[in-house]
Amino acid sequence: MEAPCHATPSPQLTQAPSRLHCKHLMAAFSCHLLTRAVVLALLLAATTSSAEKETHLRFYWHDVMSGASPTVARVAEAATTNASATSFGAVYAMDDPLTEGPDLSTSRFVGRAQGVYVCAGRDSLSLLMAMNFVFTGAGAGGAYYNGSSVAVLGPNRAAVEVREMAVVGGTGTFRFARGYCQARTYSFDAKTGDATVEYNVYLRHD
Ligand SMILES: *[C@@H]1O[C@H](CO)[C@@H](O)[C@H](O)[C@H]1NC(C)=O
Ligand SMILES: *[C@@H]1O[C@H](CO)[C@@H](O)[C@H](O)[C@H]1NC(C)=O
Repeated sequence: MEAPCHATPSPQLTQAPSRLHCKHLMAAFSCHLLTRAVVLALLLAATTSSAEKETHLRFYWHDVMSGASPTVARVAEAATTNASATSFGAVYAMDDPLTEGPDLSTSRFVGRAQGVYVCAGRDSLSLLMAMNFVFTGAGAGGAYYNGSSVAVLGPNRAAVEVREMAVVGGTGTFRFARGYCQARTYSFDAKTGDATVEYNVYLRHD
């Protein structure tokens, strides 16, 4: 006589729920795997974009107002500029040499800072800097990012020891660049207006 199927559970019956359980587990697991795959893909995507390089550049910027061949020229002003203690409204065009060390005559030339600065502060000497660091020179390790450039746009407040300006882009080696630079006055001759400023540039780029 056949035993009622529920009387004594057959081995298949005892296995069935665990198989079912296993199936759920598998589904959960593959779902989990899928989640992990998605997370991994996202991580990879994040890594790709965070695989951008970081570069720190340090050089000296020379604003030469004196002598036979100044590297900066006042090109415009307002009617009220001469009466302003902060030269508010004056616009200067620059083609300032950049060197590896602070000494213009002996340091290795790495490029030029080309652009303009505007006396943009009415009550304090504050410059709006709009310049490109254009690299053409040689560094210690050979060519110094020859042909590449970095675009800077930011405020330069004379009274502040460390002036921070935004890097808004770049070309060549520095495509897609963003970052900031910090300027510290190395020397300033109040008689001639000649200035040497140390620039540290912190970049993230492709
Ligand atoms: C401001 O001063 C400079 C130099 O002294 C002079 O060349 C220029 O004409 C003056 N500008 C005005 C608007 O008076
Ligand atoms: C920079 O590149 C230019 C043009 O390709 C080349 O003439 C010059 O010699 C290079 N300068 C350095 C320092 O490598």
